[in-house]
Amino acid sequence: MGDFPATDAVMTAANTDALLSLSHYYLPVYRPRQLVLDRGQGARVWDIEGREFIDLAAGIAVCSLGHNDPDLKAALFAQADKLWHTSNVFYSEPPLHLAQELVTASRFAERVFLCNSGAEANEVAIKLVRKWAAAQDRAAGKRVIVTFRGSFHGRTLATVTATAQPKYQEGYEPLPGGFRYVDFNDVAQLEAAMAGGDVAAVMFEPVQGEGGVMPASAAFMRRARELCDQHDALLVLDEIQVGMGRTGELFAHWNWGVTPDIVTLAKALGCGFPIGAMLAGPKVADIMGVGAHGSTFGGNPLAAAVARVALRKLGSDEIRANVQRQSAALKAGLEAIGEEFGVFEQVRGMGLMLGAVLKPEYANDAGTLLDLAAEQQVLILQAGTHVLRFVPALNITDEELAEGLKRVRAAIAAFVASR
Ligand SMILES: Cc1ncc(COP(=O)(O)O)c(C=O)c1O
Repeated sequence: MGDFPATDAVMTAANTDALLSLSHYYLPVYRPRQLVLDRGQGARVWDIEGREFIDLAAGIAVCSLGHNDPDLKAALFAQADKLWHTSNVFYSEPPLHLAQELVTASRFAERVFLCNSGAEANEVAIKLVRKWAAAQDRAAGKRVIVTFRGSFHGRTLATVTATAQPKYQEGYEPLPGGFRYVDFNDVAQLEAAMAGGDVAAVMFEPVQGEGGVMPASAAFMRRARELCDQHDALLVLDEIQVGMGRTGELFAHWNWGVTPDIVTLAKALGCGFPIGAMLAGPKVADIMGVGAHGSTFGGNPLAAAVARVALRKLGSDEIRANVQRQSAALKAGLEAIGEEFGVFEQVRGMGLMLGAVLKPEYANDAGTLLDLAAEQQVLILQAGTHVLRFVPALNITDEELAEGLKRVRAAIAAFVASR
């Protein structure tokens, strides 16, 4: 075991360096902050040196019930004692219940496909669109999916193609065909893109996450639904980041009052345990038959047991009320910091998915600010190089949020002083 650090030896500063040195075994596709997290409680995490951080990132909008939630743990441990995995060759209880509960909670879906991640949920959504169009005898060229600049739908070849951002696609050509890109929130462009009658679906995030925390306008959302009806196309909403209570409503699209045909979920559905889901409405629920799609781990009993609890808790009145309360506090706090230091152009977003847009002179500095925030012991995210993104746990307390804002202020002060 010579190459592996003993667990009782990882509590010293020297071992942070030792652990970080192991990161060269990773494919170097990420640039994590130079700290090694060890444990969490609520909206706080500690690194292996015992330093405490306020977590306003929540594992990228995943740990929506904070860290170490007792109910999630109880569900996981109880299921771990019973059955870990069956594959899709046999049924087990948790995913059957979860499917029913998701359908009921969604108010539109008739069936669910369970998978393991956001990209997989979108991948099956894309495949379902294509199968649906094929079932109507539409030629392959008439199965176009319209997606939007600034979107993010995942990293598989099809979902990265749906992601209309060249930086994620470069070098992976040839990309799958049949996608058409339009500016987000641009109704005229969407109308033009659909005018030819070859569009099978329109797919977008109700609030673009990675693209800069940008909500769909009411007019855009309404028109997208109308155009889909008019052209016999499907409305696919990617709620992987914005869903599961983050806007205050369990499903983000409830805020706009539209009914989609397909919704994808992941991230907070498992609150940190990997799981994704694709929810299919009446037009598409019966399109895929035996053998049309599959996943060895999808609907894993451990993941489903956790997700059932997450769904129940994230859909509660307490969470809705707390999202509203903490959203107002976070927005006001960020606006105050922006005014004091003159760094933010705008604070935008919905619920506990807020973005502080940096002024043009700081438009490339989000990464630097994340480093400075980590130094001040607060974890935040960026969305592109020009937006600071805040997606804390939905049950974050007044005290945790106030402390987090204090540290964000200190990071901004250090940034301004260094310029
Ligand atoms: C809106 C959206 N869709 C899809 C994905 C991909 O999810 P995953 O990383 O679980 O594949 C993400 C991840 O950030 C996302 O934010």
